[in-house]
Amino acid sequence: MKHIMVVFGTRPEAIKMCPLVKELKTRKNVRISVCVTGQHRTMLDQVLEVFDVAPDHDLCIMKENQTLFEITINILNAIRQILQNERPDMVLVHGDTTTTFATALACFYLQIPIGHVEAGLRTYKIHSPYPEEFNRQAVGIIAKYHFAPTEQARQNLLKEGKPADQIYVTGNTAIDALKTTIQKDYYHKELDWASGSRLILLTAHRRENMGTPMQQMFCAIKRIIAETPDVKVIYPIHLNPLVRQIAYAVFNGEERIHIIEPLDVLDFHNFLARSYLVLTDSGGIQEEAPSLGKPVLVMRDTTERPEGIAAGTLRLVGTEEENIYLSVKKLLSNNEEYDQMSQASNPYGDGFASKRIADILMGDGE
Ligand code: UD1
Ligand code: UDP
Repeated sequence: MKHIMVVFGTRPEAIKMCPLVKELKTRKNVRISVCVTGQHRTMLDQVLEVFDVAPDHDLCIMKENQTLFEITINILNAIRQILQNERPDMVLVHGDTTTTFATALACFYLQIPIGHVEAGLRTYKIHSPYPEEFNRQAVGIIAKYHFAPTEQARQNLLKEGKPADQIYVTGNTAIDALKTTIQKDYYHKELDWASGSRLILLTAHRRENMGTPMQQMFCAIKRIIAETPDVKVIYPIHLNPLVRQIAYAVFNGEERIHIIEPLDVLDFHNFLARSYLVLTDSGGIQEEAPSLGKPVLVMRDTTERPEGIAAGTLRLVGTEEENIYLSVKKLLSNNEEYDQMSQASNPYGDGFASKRIADILMGDGE
């Protein structure tokens, strides 16, 4: 029987791969196994619990303040044995993390075919996002199947010379996940605290923003809060100690900014659905917010998700304090602009991406 191994290791990969794992497990005549690298620990386990997915293998590689070297070396070392023992017919990886890159490299060394989910996103700026742009392009060289979420992603892959018959436009599995998490009668005490105010949902974690850029982002938000009494900020903070250090230093004593522990995905999606606007440097949130009609100011200089910009929901505001401050202020004071940005549109699919990917994989070799 054909064996497909699904490998992931961080929160966003898990959120977008668990719906696919669940779909694949409904199919006959195929064995599905799940290997997690544990590049994230708590934030990964939160997702596994929500989706009720139990990994067959766990490489448990996370270390505090881990370097790119440590992640890559430890995954390569640990996954080699598992791949050699299990010899899957295909390995599925997702997106652009170092888990994705190291797993794809290990598969290449062992000549195991790779299917790349969320393929073809590009900024073509190798340092932005860092190291994700490199990771994604490198996996693109190795992959046998490219599951592109959008037509634009397919076009990127075609321009790079990938064979058309190995690229499939499937939509993004993030939307599959979103369909299962939003609840009408959702309650959380933090949302209770924010009710009656306009809620800004904040997240920030990118490696290239560590240090001054992140400090500038937070300073801009502090200025906004000082000037806008009807605004409150909830910040489910990433577990990276470097992020925490900057956030606590800048936001210390701010009563209308609540820094809380990372939310599980069900909670986060429901917070998103009830926010007024989103400030983030995240990738995945850029996919989720448009389908909920939530304006997102993206605190980055580039995005590999131009569809959300074209849809009008996302705006790039860079990482400099003044620009972020002015952009948030404008959006908070200009109803027309706010209404334009909050038109719900969904460039990332219809919530059936996992089904499409599973259909394609089941057609192969049967
Ligand atoms: C990683 C990915 C990034 C993705 C992000 C999603 C790489 C190089 N980066 O970045 O592409 O956008 O995940 O969040 O693959 N930590 C914990 N517990 C956790 C998770 C993290 O304590 O559950 C702490 C650890 O100290 C760890 C640090 O956060 O060393 C950074 O984690 P790491 O995976 O290296 O980088 P991220 O910024 O999370
Ligand atoms: N998310 C979550 N809890 C949080 C913050 C984010 O579950 O406290 C989800 C969010 O809905 C999105 C994903 O995590 O699906 C984004 O992850 P992250 O920003 O860490 O990584 P990126 O998408 O930038 O790679």
